[in-house]
Amino acid sequence: MASLTYQLLSVTLALCAVHLISGYSFRNCIEDPYPYGQSFKCILRKESNLSAVIGDLPQTAVNLTITINPVWHIPSMSFVNVTNLEYLRLDHNYLRKIDPFAFQNLTRLKSLNVSSNNISQLNPYVFKDLHNLTYLSLTNNSLKQLPVGIFSTLLNLDTLIMRQNFLTNFSGIAESVSHLPKLRVLDLCFNNLTNLKHSNASLPKSLTTLYICRNNLLTLGCHQSFLGFIQLLDLSYNPRLPTMAFQGVDLSHINYLRLRSTSVKVVEFLNISNVNAGSVDFSGMGLKNDTLLTELCTSLKGKVKSIKRMGLSNNGIKNLTNYALQYCPTITGSLDLSRNNLKSTGCFKFLDKHTQIKSLNAEHNHITSLQSCKTENMVYLNHLEELSYRYNRILSVNAYAFSHTPNIKTLKLNINTISFLHRKALKGLKSLEMLRLDNNLLTDLFNDTFEDNVNLQTLNLRNNRIAVIFNGTFLSLRNLTTLDLGGNKITHFEQSGLDGLTSLSKFYLDGNNLKEIDTSLYRVFQDTLTVLDLKSNQIYFLHKVTSSPFMNLSKLSDLKLDGQRPHGLSVLPQNFFRGLHSLKSLYLANNNIYYLAPDAFDDLTNLTFLSLESCCVGVAQLQPGIFKNLRNLNILSMENMGIQTFSKEVFGNLTKLHKLQLNRNVMQSIHFEILDSLPELHYLDIRNTPLSCTCKNHLLQNWTLHNRRVQVVYLYNMKCPDDNQHNFYNFKTNVCYIDLGEYLFLSTAIVIFLFTVTPLLYVKLYWKMKYNYYVFRSWFSDQWRRLREQEENCKYDAFISYNTSDEQWVIEQLMPNLEGNGSSFKLCLHHRDFELGRDIVDNIVSAVYSSRKTICVVSRNFLTSEWCSLEIQLASYRLFDEHRDVLLLVFLEPISERQLSSYHRMRKVMLKKTYLQWPGSDCTNPTQAQELFWNQLRRAMRTGSRFETEQNCSEGREKEGRTEHVDARTSDENYYLLP
Ligand SMILES: *[C@@H]1O[C@H](CO)[C@@H](O)[C@H](O)[C@H]1NC(C)=O
Ligand SMILES: *[C@@H]1O[C@H](CO)[C@@H](O)[C@H](O)[C@H]1NC(C)=O
Ligand SMILES: *[C@@H]1O[C@H](CO)[C@@H](O)[C@H](O)[C@H]1NC(C)=O
Repeated sequence: MASLTYQLLSVTLALCAVHLISGYSFRNCIEDPYPYGQSFKCILRKESNLSAVIGDLPQTAVNLTITINPVWHIPSMSFVNVTNLEYLRLDHNYLRKIDPFAFQNLTRLKSLNVSSNNISQLNPYVFKDLHNLTYLSLTNNSLKQLPVGIFSTLLNLDTLIMRQNFLTNFSGIAESVSHLPKLRVLDLCFNNLTNLKHSNASLPKSLTTLYICRNNLLTLGCHQSFLGFIQLLDLSYNPRLPTMAFQGVDLSHINYLRLRSTSVKVVEFLNISNVNAGSVDFSGMGLKNDTLLTELCTSLKGKVKSIKRMGLSNNGIKNLTNYALQYCPTITGSLDLSRNNLKSTGCFKFLDKHTQIKSLNAEHNHITSLQSCKTENMVYLNHLEELSYRYNRILSVNAYAFSHTPNIKTLKLNINTISFLHRKALKGLKSLEMLRLDNNLLTDLFNDTFEDNVNLQTLNLRNNRIAVIFNGTFLSLRNLTTLDLGGNKITHFEQSGLDGLTSLSKFYLDGNNLKEIDTSLYRVFQDTLTVLDLKSNQIYFLHKVTSSPFMNLSKLSDLKLDGQRPHGLSVLPQNFFRGLHSLKSLYLANNNIYYLAPDAFDDLTNLTFLSLESCCVGVAQLQPGIFKNLRNLNILSMENMGIQTFSKEVFGNLTKLHKLQLNRNVMQSIHFEILDSLPELHYLDIRNTPLSCTCKNHLLQNWTLHNRRVQVVYLYNMKCPDDNQHNFYNFKTNVCYIDLGEYLFLSTAIVIFLFTVTPLLYVKLYWKMKYNYYVFRSWFSDQWRRLREQEENCKYDAFISYNTSDEQWVIEQLMPNLEGNGSSFKLCLHHRDFELGRDIVDNIVSAVYSSRKTICVVSRNFLTSEWCSLEIQLASYRLFDEHRDVLLLVFLEPISERQLSSYHRMRKVMLKKTYLQWPGSDCTNPTQAQELFWNQLRRAMRTGSRFETEQNCSEGREKEGRTEHVDARTSDENYYLLP
């Protein structure tokens, strides 16, 4: 009763709740975790109506991202219900219309991004309320001009980006930003500006960064001091901008000027401008040969003593002779030679006047090999710390290739075609901290390849063709913390292949061909390793038990085992994760695990992230208690695991779980209590599951709609599994509530009634119940009515109930005497008249009811046969309860009281009824006695319901001493005599 009350109460509460409480799911947005209620992303929705996208967001929203949606219009007052917004992204939609008061009330907004839309016009008041805006991007729209005063209230604006529009009128732009006291960055690249003419407006003093690249500037045309405060000026890719445009323009504050792909002649320009020559980037200025470079250097030399940053990229330089930079002021910082056509760097002989250089960039050239640089009159770049050769065509790196740059800390040789790295190539690089060799064609590493790189911290060898790690390869790398061997063809390590890596913390081995986890190798760094990536290897297990390969990795916090090729891990052995007490993240996704032991995760007490996505298709059901020790788990992904059902015990102890992904599984229902009992759950994804829209999910539906804590991702888009017209969130459940109440009442009433009455009935009315049961059954199989009808017509005169052992008597004696021999009774005999294929019980019931009488041929065998007793029961029921006397008893053999006593129903019948005793052959005059017997039987059948018991053969029985039973009856008042 308690549970009934509880259920009814919760149903009532639920019904009330529909109108009072709003839930925690959003139609088109997903709430980011931490802190809750502040950050929302509404991405890739098919909704074009903005208010439908954000209509259900809470007032607390601070960050809002609405992108890749077909939204085209922002009506006025769209955000009045989310006035706490600080960051608003509306990029990559189809916006073309923004109403004048679209952003009204967003007084706290700091950042607004409406880039990549189709806006061609803006209302002058559209940004009126955005007093706190610091960042505004209008990139990639169709703006041709700006209305007057559009930014007038944006007094905190720091960055204004208007790239990729069709702006032509610089004057208007200057006007609109001139009074913005905090504007620092203005980006006008990719527009149609032809000049920088401006009326009286000046740029704000705060503006230091101005991008006007990729326009169509023909001149500058601005006031001399107009650019006086600019520090970074990008005028690149204005192909028709001439040198003379800069005549008289004050560029004295510039510390970085880009003039690439303009018509500016660099030497001429340096002569007419007051720009600091060291601030100009000479990239892309056509300085492709020694003559032009020498000319530039000479010019520079007269102006500056040293140069910090020399940009010479994109100049088409094929070859740098030793003289090319000889006349330049000393380069003290970086030299950028990227994106030229250099075939070789020739041990940097061209830098013999610039040995102070710290960083050198030779990326994107045509270099094919790095030669040996250990010769007599070598230029030593002792200050060089950073050297990059990325994106070349280097095939071979020869011995002592870096002898002239002994102090480099960062060396980038990645994205080349290096297949030969001489074992002495890296000789002498004792200061090297980071070495990038990834994305090459290396097959072998020698035991002395890294011999000198004792300070190396990061070694990236990803995406090469290394198959085996030989003994001693990393022996000197005692300071290495990160080793990336991912994407190779490693099948195994030699026994001391990893020796020496005593500081290793992050070890990436993903995408190799390892078949097993040989942990004897990891002994070297068992106390330092934090990340081990074994993703996408060929590891698999056949046995459910192995010793834990990770036993001693006491600091391991991140383990990836996802996506083992080609068929997955198969089995996750028991104890597999034993000892990983520090593990925080575990990735098991995309494996074909078919068995997950219930104690698989028992040691992972600090785990916060577990991904089982597509790990175990076919596991179907998770073992109760499988997550029992994961008390710190935050995020659990069980996407696409083939889960059909799970019990509450599965999630028992996940008290910190906040994100649960159950999407793409096959369960048809979930008990909401299971989810409700996870105290920290805030994010639940159950999309793409066949959760049925039936009453078994009505409590779940109610919970998803009305709980105030858990966000159910895109709840309002979940369809009913077999009916895409209807949604899970609003399938009709009122029928469930009514049915439930009624059903609960009725079922409880019935149960109580049955519990009270059944024992009584059992004691009193066992046989009647049994009879009723059969009757009930017949009735159900639509037989009952037919039986009643048949009874009226009485198909048979008598149904003969007998045991097969008495069949001979029935056939030889009974049948001829009743059916033939002058009398023509119609008898029903089971061996002859029962319908084949019909249930025996039905046959008996039918026979009893379609016969006027039931003659029981009683013998000892008859009494022990169950079906015969059933026939007696049925007939005697008619005798006692319907008061239709149908029963005739014929005793084939004398049966003593003692023998009858266990058949008390029979006894009761005998007490009420008279019976006939068959005069056996032991009678004194059997023929006469039998003749009398048949006469009496015929008369009893033909006439009334009662007949007299005849003492046909009393002497015989007396003689045999078996008469007690019958004699007793002689004086009994229960004897009925024929009238
Ligand atoms: C909102 O977005 C900004 C910028 O992306 C980020 O710095 C900030 O932490 C975010 N705030 C919240 C509450 O997510
Ligand atoms: C803001 O909230 C009010 C009251 O809940 C509602 O009537 C109005 O339509 C909402 N406005 C928008 C733009 O969502
Ligand atoms: C929105 O702004 C209008 C006018 O500026 C003001 O009257 C109204 O109270 C503001 N509403 C909210 C919710 O701040």
